[in-house]
Amino acid sequence: SPSAQIIDGKAIADRIRKEIATEVKALQEKYGKVPGLAVVLVGTKGDSATYVRMKRKACADLGIQSFSTDLPGDVSEEDLLKVVADYNANEEVHGILVQLPLPKHIDEQRILDAISLEKDVDGFHPANIGALAMRGRTPLFTSCTPKGCLELLKRSGVAISGKRAVVLGRSNIVGMPVAHLLQGEDATVTVVHSRTPDAQAICAEADILVAAIGRAEMVRGDWIKPGAAVIDVGTNPVPDASKKSGYRLVGDVAFSEAKERAGFITPVPGGVGPMTITMLLSNTVDGARRAFE
Ligand code: GUN
Repeated sequence: SPSAQIIDGKAIADRIRKEIATEVKALQEKYGKVPGLAVVLVGTKGDSATYVRMKRKACADLGIQSFSTDLPGDVSEEDLLKVVADYNANEEVHGILVQLPLPKHIDEQRILDAISLEKDVDGFHPANIGALAMRGRTPLFTSCTPKGCLELLKRSGVAISGKRAVVLGRSNIVGMPVAHLLQGEDATVTVVHSRTPDAQAICAEADILVAAIGRAEMVRGDWIKPGAAVIDVGTNPVPDASKKSGYRLVGDVAFSEAKERAGFITPVPGGVGPMTITMLLSNTVDGARRAFE
């Protein structure tokens, strides 16, 4: 059988970013204002700082105004809540993102609950997650990585309605919301997690498999139903002496095996990754449009 169509997340993300840049210009002409995104980083944890830098740069590239707050790792919960409250009150800010994870001494739920629903571009507020989970409701914002996964499927022409979807992982950031999104598109969804016996047998029934469990190359070629669409959200560092950093990133799927069975598959890197920040920009523009109208 022929090997899978590789879903080029970078190319799809670039196309969507052009659409967003056009929209930013249109808003600027119509209202004389630009969308604004506030990105809050607490501490200096390696990859969080990298992601935050990428988010700020992406805003600049598209003409979105970027607001930055970097706080020390020992900042108090009260001081972080003040930062959120200030951005909630700032009319130039249409999206607020507090990079996760937060240090242990901060109650993450309290911070997420404090972000204004209208500015919750991460879609992590329980009211937005609740609306996502309920039939007949539409959340103001949908979380960026899950939205990126769905966008990759849709723009690759993968049918979702009536299909069997398996989501590997149940995190609040990816697994849980992507399962609700797929169910909302009329897939029959099963969530497999770390305590699920015989994950392989369940994955092998998936027409659509979303892997977001954070285990390097856990999904082998023989876990894949022939012709399935495989979306790999994993970014796991594995030692690689040939790299300057000493490691390389691999997904939750053993790509070279899986691409011989799948119909569609995302690479790591270059699959879901570029879509996540693009969806953040899209959410920010949506928030701004609602604020301007
Ligand atoms: N940490 C990992 N992914 C995300 C994300 O999508 N948003 C935020 N705020 N933090 C994250």
